[in-house]
Amino acid sequence: MSTSDTTADTAALEVRGLFAGYGRIEALHGIDLRLDPGQLVALVGANGAGKTTLLRAISGLIASRAGSVSLFGRDISRDSPDKRVRAGLSQVLEGRQVFGPLSVQDNLLLGGYTRPDHREERLAQMYALFPVLEEKRHLAAGTLSGGQQQMLAIARALMSEPKVLLLDEPSMGLAPLLVREIFAVIVRLKAQGVPILLVEQNAHAALSVADTGYVLETGSIALWGPAGELLRDERVAGAYLGV
Ligand SMILES: Nc1ncnc2c1ncn2[C@@H]1O[C@H](COP(=O)(O)OP(=O)(O)OP(=O)(O)O)[C@@H](O)[C@H]1O
Ligand SMILES: [Mg+2]
Repeated sequence: MSTSDTTADTAALEVRGLFAGYGRIEALHGIDLRLDPGQLVALVGANGAGKTTLLRAISGLIASRAGSVSLFGRDISRDSPDKRVRAGLSQVLEGRQVFGPLSVQDNLLLGGYTRPDHREERLAQMYALFPVLEEKRHLAAGTLSGGQQQMLAIARALMSEPKVLLLDEPSMGLAPLLVREIFAVIVRLKAQGVPILLVEQNAHAALSVADTGYVLETGSIALWGPAGELLRDERVAGAYLGV
């Protein structure tokens, strides 16, 4: 099969045999993961399991030592992070890193740098999805609440019209009401057809909205399967659901 083939079984994102780490530390020991078009995959695991490292390796922020990453059948493993963004991969980093001194609108426009011709149209779509961002579009992003900054970080990532969205702990540090709001946004994005790889420590919430779940333990996939089955799995319940 040629790399440009997009047949019915082409994954939106496919990770095969991925090894990555920092200096002499190997943090990921051969990860296989698949995200199908229109699907939401939850990646859960304890602190330090390697969730962020996996997202960094997928988006090219750290080099992988072995293995491959493909986006709709195209191998992007050797591409720069910028090229991966242009190929359709967009990541919301851990800790909602918005540009605090810049206005909400300028943060969004920066997110759309790869698609300058679509920016106005895309801005309007983001304001429809997140009305609070339109109200506050002229304010410095740093003045927004934590939940609003997380929405801004997600909207900024969506400005590039991603084919696959990577979210790193979007609910981290938010009050329960805001966590529900963020999950409602994630469900809406999935309904719009954006394939999402969602990293969460909030395993119950993530598996409840996901199609498929993966459990990462010290750099390896310990369990994976339909999200509903993982929710009922006693190994998952004992370790991650606080049951
Ligand atoms: N910049 C770094 N330099 C060296 N080691 C790192 C670095 N970042 C992470 N690590 C190590 O890599 C391993 C995986 O960390 P990672 O941040 O990917 O975990 P995580 O699952 O995202 O954890 P958390 O839930 O706390 O965000 C850990 O052992 C961590 O100490
Ligand atoms: Mg992390």
